[in-house]
Amino acid sequence: MRTQVGIVGAGPAGLLLSHLLHRSGIDSVVLERRSREYVEHRVRAGVLEQGSVDLLRRTGLGDRLDREGLRHEGIELRFGGTAHRVAMTELTGRAITVYGQQEVVKDLIAARTAAGGELRFEVEDVRLAGLDRASPVIRYRHQGREEELHCDFVAGCDGSHGVSRSAVPPGVLTEYERQYPFAWLGVLAAAAPAAEELIYAHHDRGFALHSMRSPEISRLYLQVEPDTDIADWPDDRIWSELRTRLETVPGWSLNTGPILEKSVTGMRSLVVEPMRWERLFLAGDAVHIVPPTGAKGMNLALADVALLGDAFAAWYQEGRDDLLTGYSDTALRRVWRAQHFSWWMTSLLHRLETQDPYEAKLQISTLHYLTSSRAYATSLAENYVGLAEV
Ligand code: FAD
Ligand code: PHB
Repeated sequence: MRTQVGIVGAGPAGLLLSHLLHRSGIDSVVLERRSREYVEHRVRAGVLEQGSVDLLRRTGLGDRLDREGLRHEGIELRFGGTAHRVAMTELTGRAITVYGQQEVVKDLIAARTAAGGELRFEVEDVRLAGLDRASPVIRYRHQGREEELHCDFVAGCDGSHGVSRSAVPPGVLTEYERQYPFAWLGVLAAAAPAAEELIYAHHDRGFALHSMRSPEISRLYLQVEPDTDIADWPDDRIWSELRTRLETVPGWSLNTGPILEKSVTGMRSLVVEPMRWERLFLAGDAVHIVPPTGAKGMNLALADVALLGDAFAAWYQEGRDDLLTGYSDTALRRVWRAQHFSWWMTSLLHRLETQDPYEAKLQISTLHYLTSSRAYATSLAENYVGLAEV
């Protein structure tokens, strides 16, 4: 089999890239390890920056997003028994949209399928070869058969546990990493959200986040120990801890309901540079990871492939390689801004294992400053809704 761009991974990055290439008349094949059913139901991120929404709309993916997405013009910071609104739209003119990652994935799969795009699910043992030659090849197994995909370029969009990055020879890539001494326990609950906007709560017992997916479904998170076994968290313990950390404001109470899904996610920051080697281009979680506190992971994945889509279009339509050559440096500017913001939000809101009373006082001071200074709040808001230029 032959294509122009071979894409590994059918997450937001791989699928959107395939869609953008198709719109530029460029052929691609997407190879995905999991089933379609699995990727369409994997519960992950939920916040789209204004720029991500604009991009999806501009490329014909806005219909259901506009109908079902929830536009939010502010977030709440809750600490010390008080609630403070950060008026994002008033401060920046921009907003975020709450729309589940799996909904973005469903919309992308539907669009690729309707256009006759080649998406291969449940492929095994993906191996990349010849990345430094004119025609790289992706070998894999599908339905018991050995297959080969010959292409001009490979896009490694296979997430944090992917294989693409490891095809780069040793010594080429540099890793910048930070581990955090905690994890998030996330639940999806059949309960109407008890607030219209997201609540980021700082609490002595640890961070909590009140988010949502629809007017009927809440999405809630608790900071927990990194090695947490989900079996130690029966539903009533989860609700009790959420109440303790979130019901700190007089008159406010959580809505509860059946828990539909729960999982524990580790927290990590990682950047691998450069994001390209020869004919391999890396995008999304395959090459950088952020802790979810700033809601940046999916947005970065989409922003990377927006650049890559333009770069491949310039190459195939005009014979220009400047955008392909500049891809890594250009993408990394946004990546590092999001790295800093995600690290900063994480450090501000979590109970740190190494926490000394001095550091705890600094967190509270920063929260007071954020909620009293328009300048500082604007900085948070513009990073949260997403910077147009970085
Ligand atoms: P992915 O969505 O990971 O897609 C990569 C795809 O590649 C997957 O479908 C995978 O199955 C496939 N793949 C992997 N290896 C291979 C292989 N060898 N061969 C073929 N296919 C392969 N971000 C937030 O902002 N908020 C959150 O609440 C949040 N929660 C998260 C929870 C979890 C458990 C995880 C893992 C991430 C979470 N994130 C969150 C981050 C966000 O979901 C990611 O940043 C986003 O999914 C990145 O998109 P991607 O397309 O780069 O990677
Ligand atoms: C979510 O709704 O899943 C969500 C929202 C905000 C975050 C992280 C996750 O910072």
